Amino acid sequence: MKLNHEIIEKNTGLLVILIVVSISFATLVEIVPLIYTKEVNQPLPNMKPWTALELEGRDIYIREGCHVCHTQMVRPLRAEVERYGPYSRAAESAWDHPFLWGSKRTGPDLARVGGRYSDDWQREHLINPQSLVPESVMPPFAWLAERDVNPRKVQEKMRLFRDHFGVPYSDADIAAAPDAVQGKTELDAVVAYLQQLGTAMKGQR
Ligand code: HEC
Repeated sequence: MKLNHEIIEKNTGLLVILIVVSISFATLVEIVPLIYTKEVNQPLPNMKPWTALELEGRDIYIREGCHVCHTQMVRPLRAEVERYGPYSRAAESAWDHPFLWGSKRTGPDLARVGGRYSDDWQREHLINPQSLVPESVMPPFAWLAERDVNPRKVQEKMRLFRDHFGVPYSDADIAAAPDAVQGKTELDAVVAYLQQLGTAMKGQR
């Protein structure tokens, strides 16, 4: 046994191969059961597809790089759960493509921010964060209030989410989408998106 170990440790090529094999195996042991566990990967019963406006807000959130400073994943640790609310379930991200879990928190996690503040608070905070949180390092996004949502691609996006990611949009939802975003500002869209974050998990622990 001792001899075998020596052979491995003195042979870098073999060592590398065996490390790769053991890490791959350990990864599969962690990931494969999750793929087949319904509770974690099926959409939650009270999950609603994003409205046309929320979907546009999500795209603006990505465009503006909000996810670079904000995660959307509450880790299953006591300190996190006490601060933000129930830890994130994989099922919550079933329709989130690309998912916006993020890894860097310059600002707080936003997975549970829906309903925490009023719409007015969110608007003012996006236009001028320091007016509400003087020590904030969040940059202002005032131009969002001056730009209208572009309704041109919204139907195409909804069809994409329905056909490729199984988001249950009806034909009526898609038909009504351009009117639903017509005349709304990008600020309206981002606030609508923020206000639904985590609401499907309300009342859960
Ligand atoms: C440079 C990093 C940075 C970027 C980019 C950024 N934020 Fe923030 N954000 C922060 C920081 C820091 C805070 C905490 C201080 C505060 O509330 O302003 C914060 C707070 C928030 C809060 C309040 C969260 C809470 O629970 O109190 C919301 C909502 C928010 N940001 C949304 C956004 C949105 C939407 C965008 C993109 C349009 C964005 N942020 C971009 C750094 C950032």
